[in-house]
Amino acid sequence: MTTSAVRGEPLPGGDPTTAGIICAKLTKVYTGAPPMPAGGRWGGGAPGGSSGRPQGGGAAEGRPGSVPAAAGRSESGVRAVDALNLTVQRGEFFGLLGPNGAGKSTTIGMLTTRVIPTAGQAIVAGIDVVAHPALARTRLAAVTQTNTLDRSLTVFDNLYFHGRYFGLGRAESRRRARSLIERFQLEDKAGVLVDTLSGGLAQRVQIARALLHEPAVLFLDEPTAGLDPQTRLQLWETLRELNRSGQTVLLTTHYMEEADQLCERLAIMDHGHLLALDTPEGLKARVGAERIVTVTLTRPDDGSVERSISALGGVNDVQREERVLRVYAGVAEGLVPRVVQAVAGAGAELHDLSVMEPTLEAVYLKLTGKEYRE
Ligand SMILES: Nc1ncnc2c1ncn2[C@@H]1O[C@H](COP(=O)(O)OP(=O)(O)O)[C@@H](O)[C@H]1O
Ligand SMILES: [Mg+2]
Repeated sequence: MTTSAVRGEPLPGGDPTTAGIICAKLTKVYTGAPPMPAGGRWGGGAPGGSSGRPQGGGAAEGRPGSVPAAAGRSESGVRAVDALNLTVQRGEFFGLLGPNGAGKSTTIGMLTTRVIPTAGQAIVAGIDVVAHPALARTRLAAVTQTNTLDRSLTVFDNLYFHGRYFGLGRAESRRRARSLIERFQLEDKAGVLVDTLSGGLAQRVQIARALLHEPAVLFLDEPTAGLDPQTRLQLWETLRELNRSGQTVLLTTHYMEEADQLCERLAIMDHGHLLALDTPEGLKARVGAERIVTVTLTRPDDGSVERSISALGGVNDVQREERVLRVYAGVAEGLVPRVVQAVAGAGAELHDLSVMEPTLEAVYLKLTGKEYRE
């Protein structure tokens, strides 16, 4: 495994009062076996018994799904997150991509106060989540990997009571619940028990509920895992829309395509480390992934088109086969129009053209030296 891609990056800086998320050497060492199951529940649905604002108290211990701190235990545990440095800007759509066991959920757990870090610091929306967990929880929202909706309540009431839990008055909680139900197109489900919802709908309700207290940062842990492709596409559109309206989002996923489609920047994570951090395009370019432009001419090329395309900047190789030319190029600006011009300039006529983008799979393979584990 190589970490050279991120070595030498400055420590996360940024103004803690304006950045969305800052992690500085954030570390989690687990010394026990993982609990089963691992569904966190804070802030979810009607918080049985308690009402009013989330109460203070410094520790996540005792909440279902939380883990005991490693203090005083042997250091020989699992280093799930290892000195993670990361800054996410406000308004950014940021992705943490990595296979199972990479440390994604632990990272989200620490950032959302459910897991207590072994070392390091985490600041979300200007608030130190370890020093001020209760305050932090009013500024962030988490959609965890498990369905944490209250099964005994309707869609509307799941939202409404979430607002009440966060200290909103009846009228305000009702108003926000209605508005989110409309925004997430759940009108015809508002009075339905959440138990009866499909996976995709339940996920939309979880996200709508998470937004009820207007969090500065929304955390989504593998939000589309287990959804069918069409439902996944719909959820992507919902999330894009949300981010366009200014919502800061940190999402984890083990779907390459999801990270590629949604995230402005993303980090590839494995074994508690970041292997690389960049825009999807930058990541692909960084490892020298190539895109392939396939040019089909109306007549076989006598070599002149091949020569003029080969001369273009960014083109690494051209393979010619009768009417078809395969152009292997780095990720270069304006490549396709330049190829089109080169064809015309060589006196040939274009019949068809297609572009195959480099995939993040290739990036992952190059960084980790192993096949992506789904
Ligand atoms: N509560 C826990 N107790 C002990 N080990 C854990 C716990 N949660 C996760 N782990 C271990 O930490 C590592 C990272 O897990 P996790 O953060 O869940 O990764 P991901 O979300 O990327 O799949 C894994 O080796 C996992 O077995
Ligand atoms: Mg996980």
